[in-house]
Amino acid sequence: MQLIQSVARVAAFLGLARRQFEPDSSPYEDPETGLTFASYTSDRGITFRVAIPDPVPEDKVFDTLLQIVAPKELGWVGWAWGGSMTYNPLTVVWADGDNVVLSSRIAYGYFSPPENPDAQYTVLETGTHVNETHFQVTAKCTGCSRWGDEDTGYTELDPAYQTTFAFAYSETPVETPSDPASNFGIHDSLGHPIYDLATAQNANFDEVVGAL
Ligand code: HEM
Repeated sequence: MQLIQSVARVAAFLGLARRQFEPDSSPYEDPETGLTFASYTSDRGITFRVAIPDPVPEDKVFDTLLQIVAPKELGWVGWAWGGSMTYNPLTVVWADGDNVVLSSRIAYGYFSPPENPDAQYTVLETGTHVNETHFQVTAKCTGCSRWGDEDTGYTELDPAYQTTFAFAYSETPVETPSDPASNFGIHDSLGHPIYDLATAQNANFDEVVGAL
């Protein structure tokens, strides 16, 4: 019995629990893309939204959509698809004047994460803009639903389970804002929100995203 409880606790910690706890995300109907996202806003006023297809394929290889809305004075905002800093696709975004820059990274330790060729993004013009106070980016990722290798093992997103993502941000600008490969310094703060990805599913996902 004790063992079962321990296993349940570890599973819950890893975000593998079947919708057992209240998620931090709530459903959001995006008027710009026409898609439904699971959305969470941090105490720094940064919103992170995820949309995925419905159904997801058996092999869990599918495109995902990430939408981030953030105060534009922030230096950079990062999103971790696996809920931790290391060995999972990281999406790092920042404003460069009227443009939004997106960089695909992966961390192999608690130091500056290099670029990640295994996660490829298409920034969608619809849903990507900068105004007086905020920047917003909407991007499709190919390679953010399943990742890993023989050594580290594979991890995949599954809307049947609650999913723990992570975010981080810094108030300090990146070194070269126009360059997606720019160096940047450590975060000032981070979080581990729990998402209910069942509320992020869209039956017409590929069709809608393809037309954006
Ligand atoms: C120059 C860049 C970076 C440096 C030097 C750095 C360094 C570190 C260090 C030293 C820790 C462990 C100590 C602590 O808890 O504060 C940490 C934790 C963490 N970092 Fe970073 N980091 C960087 C970029 C990023 C980025 C881009 C993300 C993307 C979301 C990220 C996400 C996290 C998360 C979620 C944790 C909590 C521990 C974990 O879940 O692994 N970091 N980072």
